[in-house]
Amino acid sequence: MHKGDLLYTGKAKSVFRTDMKGILLMEFRDDITAFDGKKKDVLSSKGRLNAQVSAYLFRLLEKNGIKTHFLGMPDDTHMLVRELEMIPLEVIVRNIAAGSMVRTYPIEEGTVLEPPVIMIDYKDDERHDPLLNDDLIIALRILTPEELAVVKELAHRINRVLSDFFATLGITLVDFKMEFGRAEGEILLADEISMDSMRLWETGTRKSLDKDVYRFSKGDVMETYARVAQVITSAGREN
Ligand code: ADP
Ligand code: CDP
Repeated sequence: MHKGDLLYTGKAKSVFRTDMKGILLMEFRDDITAFDGKKKDVLSSKGRLNAQVSAYLFRLLEKNGIKTHFLGMPDDTHMLVRELEMIPLEVIVRNIAAGSMVRTYPIEEGTVLEPPVIMIDYKDDERHDPLLNDDLIIALRILTPEELAVVKELAHRINRVLSDFFATLGITLVDFKMEFGRAEGEILLADEISMDSMRLWETGTRKSLDKDVYRFSKGDVMETYARVAQVITSAGREN
């Protein structure tokens, strides 16, 4: 596998072409950012741990019938993925009220959201990822009404698989962010699902097991990431 030209470098990952048409190499770097990029650090091993967790969860989702861009892991920090035409949305599913939801709306942290709430942001750093609604998504021609229904249905299905999996580990999936892309008329799950993009609480204690440890300086970030990655990736091999 030849690592070709750098196609894109984002806040936490770099994307390279390969010698295979339509297949990209995604490098998970050790960079971590929060608060719209205002807080930034480099944390040794973070890329490796997020790559391993993402790979594990993509495999789990594939086994449960969800199509993803994941193709394989040539090494600890790189993921081979199918090149997609990315949809500029951040699709967030919330099972429990937390984070920006409790800062923005009159709802107490920890409130169970049943059914889960889907919130969709426009992925645009310069515009600070503004919240969209269905009409805006269609007016901006980001998705057709049919595609929007598919994305929401996928988001709920993915949430059920992941929430059930985390429950077996004594972890509550509070909320998480997904990105989707198109290939040959189909919509696939893309990007990553990791401690950077999920909010995870130890069930019962609400102890943070994710990027909130970094955002709010709640303890040793890498110790938390390493422990969570270990619990996830050594979970029942039958998954
Ligand atoms: P950001 O752009 O938010 O700073 P990253 O540092 O995570 O993000 O960079 C990864 C980039 O790769 C993101 O822009 C993401 O949309 C894009 N991406 C993820 N999966 C794919 C894919 N399968 N094909 C093409 N681009 C992808
Ligand atoms: O976490 P924060 O308060 O910044 O924002 P949020 O809207 O409460 O985030 C909801 C979930 O989406 C959290 O799990 C975030 O980690 C994730 N998210 C993300 O991964 N990337 C973003 N640009 C925004 C949110």
